[in-house]
Amino acid sequence: MRATFPGCPHFFLFPMGFLDEIEPLKTQAIQQFKLAKDLPALESFKAAFLGPNGQFTAFLKQVGTLPKEEKPVAGKVINNAKIELEQVLAVRRQELEDLAALPKEPVDYSLPGRSRKLGKIHPLTQVTEEIVKSFRRIGFAVADGPEIEDEFHCFDALNTPADHPARDSQDTFYVEDGKSLLRTHTSSVQIRVMKSQPPPVRIVVPGRVYRRDNADATHNPTFHQIEGLFVDRGVTVGDLKGTVEHVFKDLLGKDVKLRFRPHYFSYTEPSYEIDFSSALVRKMGKEWLEIAGCGMVHPKVFENVGYDPEVWTGWAFGFGIERIAMIRYGITDIRLFYENDVRFLGQF
Ligand code: DAH
Repeated sequence: MRATFPGCPHFFLFPMGFLDEIEPLKTQAIQQFKLAKDLPALESFKAAFLGPNGQFTAFLKQVGTLPKEEKPVAGKVINNAKIELEQVLAVRRQELEDLAALPKEPVDYSLPGRSRKLGKIHPLTQVTEEIVKSFRRIGFAVADGPEIEDEFHCFDALNTPADHPARDSQDTFYVEDGKSLLRTHTSSVQIRVMKSQPPPVRIVVPGRVYRRDNADATHNPTFHQIEGLFVDRGVTVGDLKGTVEHVFKDLLGKDVKLRFRPHYFSYTEPSYEIDFSSALVRKMGKEWLEIAGCGMVHPKVFENVGYDPEVWTGWAFGFGIERIAMIRYGITDIRLFYENDVRFLGQF
């Protein structure tokens, strides 16, 4: 028997069993493609028909064995069927991809959206930035130093030799080599800066410091300080008081009061502690709150960094940043700063 093909411009005859099988095979393939329930199933059906070992591919290969005059038509029929299959495949693939992209759970598009909360700058960082800004406005630059320090910068150069009692009270964290320690104050950066540049110096140094303290409402083994150092000719205690008062009023309001109380630090002479008073401090049941140490740079310190103490004078201070933040925001427990509870942090 011979078969004819509608749509062919010429009348060709083929051996039964070859082209006659194309149409049913195509129908079968289309059916399977349309029924494929997911993308992997579709891919395996595709392989079964159009892959290197697929049934359609086998037909294409047979075209080569046909008599020369039958080849073009047979090739064309098979290719047309193949094109049709590819189209069905593409449509089904798109449908299945769309299906896979749909949410697994039903979605109610009428629900109000969920807003994404923006993070905030940590209150300690906010206070630090404001203190720095205030000092920058009067000509201070920001300096930095390492948190892992050596004894020279942390103590010896600051006129605090190994047998000095002040060293005991700053019982510290030594790291493995036994020579380095986590700095107990930012004062070490005074030494680093003075050793690296000639006077005059006008710097502030915000940074983290470490002490062997047990955590309670007002202490934490890690806290933050801001150091200040001013070196020039003819600098006086009046300059120190004026500068510190200016910055505190800038930061915490005009009605704050400061008190300079004589104290002792080995790297300043004379030395003071600065007490602070404001409505908030009084509300906390106190008249004065200690917030900083300061004084006129000790001549020995100048000698240690190679500055001539007969020519240069200066003052220095160290504030506790947490203290200032606590006063500013009325916070009564220092540990709140480190817990990273968003309910706390979100308030600033
Ligand atoms: N380093 C001192 C401390 O941690 C604070 C301090 C006092 C810094 C006097 C100074 C200073 O620069 O002159 O308690």
